[in-house]
Amino acid sequence: MKDPMKEFDRIPVSKVRRASKFISTGAKIGTNYLKHYGKKLIDPETSREELHEDNAKDIYNSLSELKGSALKVAQMLSMDKNLLPSAYQQKFAMAQYSAPPLSYPLVVKTFQKHFGKGPDKIFDSFTHKAVNAASMGQVHLATLKDKKLAVKIQYPGVGESVRSDLAMIKPIALSMFNLNPAEYDEFIQEVEVRMMEETDYALELQRSITLSQQCKHIENIVFPGYYTQFSSPQVLTMDWLEGKPLGEFLKHEFTATIGSKLGQAMWDFYHFQMHKLKAVHADPHPGNFIITNDNKLGIIDFGCVKVIPDAFYTTYFQLLDDDILTDEKKLDRVFRQLSFIHESDTPKEKAFFKGVFSRLVELLGRPFRTQTFDFSDKAYFDSLYKFGEELTKMKELRNSKKARGVRDAVYINRTYFGLYSILHDLKATVRTGDTRQ
Ligand SMILES: Nc1ncnc2c1ncn2[C@@H]1O[C@H](COP(=O)(O)OP(=O)(O)O)[C@@H](O)[C@H]1O
Ligand SMILES: [Mg+2]
Repeated sequence: MKDPMKEFDRIPVSKVRRASKFISTGAKIGTNYLKHYGKKLIDPETSREELHEDNAKDIYNSLSELKGSALKVAQMLSMDKNLLPSAYQQKFAMAQYSAPPLSYPLVVKTFQKHFGKGPDKIFDSFTHKAVNAASMGQVHLATLKDKKLAVKIQYPGVGESVRSDLAMIKPIALSMFNLNPAEYDEFIQEVEVRMMEETDYALELQRSITLSQQCKHIENIVFPGYYTQFSSPQVLTMDWLEGKPLGEFLKHEFTATIGSKLGQAMWDFYHFQMHKLKAVHADPHPGNFIITNDNKLGIIDFGCVKVIPDAFYTTYFQLLDDDILTDEKKLDRVFRQLSFIHESDTPKEKAFFKGVFSRLVELLGRPFRTQTFDFSDKAYFDSLYKFGEELTKMKELRNSKKARGVRDAVYINRTYFGLYSILHDLKATVRTGDTRQ
């Protein structure tokens, strides 16, 4: 383990501590508003920007201490709403849930509950300490005959703690992110469902088996085999993938050929799922990919899968049609269906949001409009970040009391966000033009 944390031999979730953390975050943000209005009395020029910065710092500081599912909600919110300055968003994106590891006796207890015997009676060898942290549990290395296995074990009580975290964060999130309840509900229902699903390793097992089977023909991709007989709602056993985690791989030199080969594999994997399976591994971050010793893309962690409803699919991907930015009627219809604009908007609002989202569609859709796309293009990513920064500062967006966007898009957007940043890090040139065939 990276952190020299003490092992826990009790359930490592404390509602009380977490609840008090929320309350103090709320209080701190309240104080910033007071400070703001106090200053304003003296100096009417004090900008909301300053307040925003102060709050961003407090949100980041408090929530990064908080960890767990609440942090994840905050991460998702800040990404979805573009509410944190990008420096903080990046910090947020890196923040990891890190509960102290479970002691071996608790691991044994979990095994006994699910399999009627301890891991030493099931495997030939089993590490007493975790070899990797997982977001809601930990991973042990086991062997059986000539096989190396990864055994992911969930912390006991995680399901309940996710549920209570989500219930607690609502009032705070409403004030913190300046949302109205309708908008929050639109967003949170989606996040809640995905996060509750993530606590169910039996579902993850089933999805891992199905999706890896369906994608196994894709070139340069490797999946571990899964072991139903050694899995349960809280234990997931699969082949150990030998190689370097993508984050580690990226720190070392690699050739342009290898970068593009891995990038293409990743692109093909995501688009086969989007367009053919309409179910997507929705967590593309470097921890979920392992580069094998022969430079293939190993894919793990189907804990977060977004199933794409047909109606949403049809609407969303019209954003990539060639005529979307020139056919005014079509743009209007699609933007309305995706709630970028609303019937009840004033003409001024409509024009404003149409402008903003058209720019977004043009920018994000650019890789799809050419036969190949060079994701190492620094100028392209600079313009993406710059636009993101601009969105953060847009008061019309921040003050809009209506949801701009629909819940089905939350995880699809996040998936593209992750995919693009990994392709950029791989400096990959990818064949993108034939994506939807
Ligand atoms: N099959 C495997 N082979 C090698 N390492 C693995 C394997 N499964 C998990 N790991 C390691 O454990 C970490 C956590 O596993 P993961 O399934 O991603 O958990 P979580 O769903 O909590 O993100 C991974 O980032 C990886 O480093
Ligand atoms: Mg993972």
